[in-house]
Order: sequence, then C-alpha cells, then structure tokens
Amino acid sequence: MMSEQKIAFITGANRGIGFETAKKLGKLGIFPVIGSRNEESGKAAVEKLKAEGIESDFIKFDVSDKKDYTSAYEYFDKKFGKLDILINNAGVSYEGDPVSSFGNEVPVSGISEEALRDTMEANFFAVVFSTQVLLPLIRKSDAGRIVNVSSTLGSLNMLSDPSSSVYGIKMFGYSTSKTALNSFTVHLANELKNTAIKVNSIHPGWIHTELGGSAAPMTPEDGASTSVLLATLPADGPTGGYFHLDETIGW
Ligand SMILES: NC(=O)c1ccc[n+]([C@@H]2O[C@H](COP(=O)([O-])OP(=O)(O)OC[C@H]3O[C@@H](n4cnc5c(N)ncnc54)[C@H](OP(=O)(O)O)[C@@H]3O)[C@@H](O)[C@H]2O)c1
Repeated sequence: MMSEQKIAFITGANRGIGFETAKKLGKLGIFPVIGSRNEESGKAAVEKLKAEGIESDFIKFDVSDKKDYTSAYEYFDKKFGKLDILINNAGVSYEGDPVSSFGNEVPVSGISEEALRDTMEANFFAVVFSTQVLLPLIRKSDAGRIVNVSSTLGSLNMLSDPSSSVYGIKMFGYSTSKTALNSFTVHLANELKNTAIKVNSIHPGWIHTELGGSAAPMTPEDGASTSVLLATLPADGPTGGYFHLDETIGW
C-alpha cells in the first residue's frame, strides 16, 4: 500500500552532509532512509537519529554495486510503494580536499586513469544508473524531488573565472565528475518537465567533513540546508537549476 508519509532516500547518509540531511528531513516529518555501504555505520546512524526522536531506516547501498540498486528498488516498492525524495549525496574525492589539492603539481596532465575513472564512476555513472532504477518509484510520488549533490567545483563558469573562489583548485577528476552530474540534472529535468518531478543540482557550501577538509568554515548541518530546501520545493518551485540555498549558481 502507498504510504501517506513522504519518504526520502539519501545516499551516503551514514555521516557528513548526508547524515545531517536525513536528520533535518526527519525533523520535518519526512521518513528518511539512510543509504550506507557499511552496515554497521548505517545502523549506527539510525540509532543516532532515534536518540533524537527521529524514526528512520537503513539500507545497504554501495553506489559501485549495481545489485544494491535493485535491492533498493525492491525495498521502497514493497515497503512504501513509491519514493518521494531521492538525494544523490554519496561522493568521493581521490585528489584530497580543496586546500591540500594545491600541492598537486600535475592535476590534469598527470592524473592517473584509476583516479579519474573511479571518481567518475562514483560521482557520475552511479548516480545516473541508480536514478534510472529508482525513477519508476519516484514517478509514483505526487511530488517527486531529485537532488543531485554537486559542487561549485563543477561550475565551468566559476572554474574559468580568475576572480572566482574556486579558480585554481586542483581537483580535475572531482570537478569533472560534478560538471557531468550537472549535465545529468539538466537533461533529466528536461525529460521530466511535464511531470510533477523536479530535478536540481546543489552546492552545499564548503563544509568541514572528511571530503571538505578541516579548513572548511561551515558545519555538516549548514551543508544539509540546501539539499533540504530543494528536496521540499513546492509545486511551483524550479527544476533543472543549480543552487546554493536560494541563490542560483552559473553552470
Ligand atoms: N564537504 C564539502 O565541502 C562539499 C562541497 C561540495 C560538495 N560536496 C558533496 O557533498 C556530498 C557529501 O560529502 P561530505 O562532505 O558529506 O563527505 P563525507 O563526510 O566524506 O561523506 C561522504 C559520504 O559518501 C559515502 N560514500 C563514498 N563512497 C561511497 C560508495 N561507493 N557507496 C556509498 N556511499 C559512499 C561515504 O560513505 P563511507 O562512510 O562508507 O565512506 C559517506 O557517507 C558529496 O557528494 C560531496 O561531493 C561536499
């Protein structure tokens, strides 16, 4: 039977921005399902939310394991009959964080094939193919929302502007994966423009997590705000956009 409550699936929600996103959605009365590749840390996240009075669930979801896409489909189909919110949050960097990347002397000409392919796999291909699997369930929602957690490091506008804060950050593989993710956002939003589903890219801010590094000025809680805003857009909200909070970012 179709659940009345809104159901959200957040990938990579066992820690960092994803965990805080699950918490904020839970506080809004939305049921968060935590995707985590590690069972122990997924279950621990559910327990932490429970201690804050938030009911949630966990499913094992490794973005590089296609069997997990099918298992996720089956879980949401059987338990809820739909999926209202998909937050493609899990992400990797094999080039350090923005500050440490400055020590990278050959970021483009010397990036290893493995680092580039593995980054594209996790941050781009996995998002495309897992979203394809889950999309039929999002179509069953009366207000489907897909949030692709990108970065200003995916903005070609900003990366090519010498006055921008990200100009010169040497994370070629990571940046390219987020640029590709932004392309997915634009193309999928276009395909779905006559449906109730909205698809947007977001930049969470520069956030103090393992990926963002210790010099980052913002907390994971801050970082969750934009994901939550776009996950809970009203029917007349935007689709096919790129946002930090309610500000538009140039592609
Ligand atoms: N932090 C920033 O300043 C910043 C800025 C712009 C964009 N972002 C984006 O925000 C998102 C969240 O990053 P974060 O800062 O919260 O990083 P984080 O604390 O390092 O967390 C990354 C999350 O992704 C998960 N993950 C990595 N590989 C995975 C895989 N193969 N399958 C499933 N989950 C996987 C991690 O799981 P494990 O615990 O198992 O490793 C973890 O839950 C990422 O997409 C990142 O690119 C972050």
